[in-house]
Amino acid sequence: MRSILLHLHPARVKPSAIDFRRTFGLGGMAALLIVIQLFTGILLRFYYKPNPVEAYDSILFLKNDVLFGQFIRNIHHWSAVFLILISFLHFLRVFFTGAFRGHRTNNWIFGLILLFLVVFSNFTGYLLPWDQLAYWAITISTNIIGYFPLVGESLRKLLIGGNELNANTLLTFFTLHTAVLPLLIVLFSIYHFWKIRKAGGLLLSKESAGEESVPVMPNLIFKEFIVALVLLAVLFLLSALFNAPLLEKANPVYSMNPTKAPWYFAGLQELLMHFHPFFAAFVIPVGVIIFLAWLPFINYNDEPNGHWFVSAQGIKSAEATTKYAAAVTITGIILNEYLLNFELLLAPVPAFISNGLLPLLILCGFMAGFYKFYLKKRKLSKAELVQTVFVFIMVAFIVLTITGIFFRGKDMELTFPWNV
Ligand code: HEM
Ligand code: HEM
Repeated sequence: MRSILLHLHPARVKPSAIDFRRTFGLGGMAALLIVIQLFTGILLRFYYKPNPVEAYDSILFLKNDVLFGQFIRNIHHWSAVFLILISFLHFLRVFFTGAFRGHRTNNWIFGLILLFLVVFSNFTGYLLPWDQLAYWAITISTNIIGYFPLVGESLRKLLIGGNELNANTLLTFFTLHTAVLPLLIVLFSIYHFWKIRKAGGLLLSKESAGEESVPVMPNLIFKEFIVALVLLAVLFLLSALFNAPLLEKANPVYSMNPTKAPWYFAGLQELLMHFHPFFAAFVIPVGVIIFLAWLPFINYNDEPNGHWFVSAQGIKSAEATTKYAAAVTITGIILNEYLLNFELLLAPVPAFISNGLLPLLILCGFMAGFYKFYLKKRKLSKAELVQTVFVFIMVAFIVLTITGIFFRGKDMELTFPWNV
């Protein structure tokens, strides 16, 4: 045991590296959640039958007749939710401590791939219960792929193996979910850990250079143990109190109202309510992914200093951007829903322009205005400036996601959460 732990960690570490406020234990928690998913997934696999005739009944059997079947299913469900939330928070923490560039460029890119794999694992698992929720959520999300230019429709058909979800889809998703993706996640995680060691551990500020290092056992191991116990306790409690959802068996002729994508794609679905599909499903998401992958390659003219939000000025500008981006996104959603329907107002103009290019340009105008009237005066460094763009995108994404999950009711109309 001791030698396994020492393979993952160096023998001694700087006290700042194990300060809880550096990582909040997020990377370690993500790793533990992956292990829990693998373990509970294998147990579920003993009873699950991957075909549309038996899948739903095999889950009912698991729930009602297998000792701890419901509990194991609940753990797999809640741990999957946590895995996305915690991986996302880890991604934010890595960015905001500047650990995404320099020696860590490679690990940032592989981290992004890990994030994609985790989301895709959740997505493929979502279909497996083959109930109404699963069937319609995956239908609506795979339809989004169909909006990609040129190859969209072929890609959609390739993924689901036909025109609509069928036995091929379930088998493909099952194979991806229980074999291909877990293997890739394990391989990429091993590489991720190795690269952290190769980079000389976590990125620390210059001030910690003179610190005397301490033995990893018990200093770090003890903290990791506590974080793991707390996470397990919360996960078990949640799984004991709240069951993973299971509606009636999938019915391809009777759609749900509202038909919502899985919660982590709710932001994307919300975007589709406001932009032409070419922009909502392709231009904007692909643009954001390219921006995230390009972040480490921007020329910053300095080395990352390991400080949270770069500097005191970075904290202030990030706070102001958060408020501004939240206000712009919320106002945009409400205006577009009730007042400003560009597609109707500018009826003769092709929807691609009135409902795509135009609102996107308006949004860019709001960002440019914020730069001109607020940020420019502050003479931000390159790193601080890039950070404000990142904050803008993340806040808009989070607001869209929250709106999609909690504020869309029947017929996808805006409503309050208690009416959803
Ligand atoms: C989803 C599975 C993931 C696991 C299991 C994982 C695990 C870890 C662990 C244990 C650490 C060291 C401790 C810590 O920072 O909390 C770490 C560091 C790091 N992770 Fe991840 N990570 C994952 C996803 C990501 C993602 C999505 C990104 C970014 C896109 C990322 C980028 C990094 C980087 C750059 C470091 C080095 C940080 C530094 O030097 O301060 N990881 N990861
Ligand atoms: C990172 C890894 C994994 C993630 C994120 C994940 C996620 C999910 C999710 C979200 C569901 C739907 C559960 C629900 O009804 O809410 C699911 C179901 C399922 N998963 Fe996984 N899973 C992972 C790994 C595995 C592995 C390794 C296996 C088996 C070898 C597995 C087997 C299953 C089975 C059989 C189901 C259907 C049972 C059910 O829905 O309760 N999973 N998974």
